[in-house]
Amino acid sequence: MTIRGFRLGDVPFVASIVEEALHERYDPSLYGSLSAEWPDGFLIAAGPDDIPVGFLLGVSQVPGEARVLMFAVARGHRAQGIGAVLMDEFLVRCRARQFRRVTLEVRVSNATAIRFYARYRYSVVDLLRAYYSDGENGYQMARPT
Ligand SMILES: CC(C)(COP(=O)(O)OP(=O)(O)OC[C@H]1O[C@@H](n2cnc3c(N)ncnc32)[C@H](O)[C@@H]1OP(=O)(O)O)[C@@H](O)C(=O)NCCC(=O)NCCS
Repeated sequence: MTIRGFRLGDVPFVASIVEEALHERYDPSLYGSLSAEWPDGFLIAAGPDDIPVGFLLGVSQVPGEARVLMFAVARGHRAQGIGAVLMDEFLVRCRARQFRRVTLEVRVSNATAIRFYARYRYSVVDLLRAYYSDGENGYQMARPT
């Protein structure tokens, strides 16, 4: 498994991970336009065939801060440390940009992700009522870089 930057050819693979893991479907052009804003913030974990098996898409919308907009590993590749490698590398890149803080949002029911983030010293900073389109609440979590 290697960590590399996002390329436009990754879009169909990233979109299928998003659909399977996050149950969302976005306009395919979204990935390229977000990547253009901060190319180093969009990390791909690729298998030996160079096909993406996981990714972390970070953006910076608030000065001095990064936000994890999407983060997922394909089901058959979870619990092998790929998420940890992606998060470690993302934090390195945040520090390189001298961001002070990283934020993210997570469904209150997503115990696996919340446990992962807690292990990474993210803490809940806000309850986001009806944050998701199906009405579920979210937590905003944050950590210093
Ligand atoms: C959250 C997510 C990205 C984590 O990715 P991952 O690759 O499974 O993460 P890791 O393998 O690094 O860690 C997951 C667990 O596997 C364990 N693990 C790591 N390496 C391992 C290994 N070699 N063998 C066995 N277990 C291992 C970790 O200790 C961790 O356990 P814990 O969660 O009980 O603390 C993944 O679960 C996912 O895609 N979920 C669905 C999408 C999602 O919810 N995204 C977040 C939205 S906010």
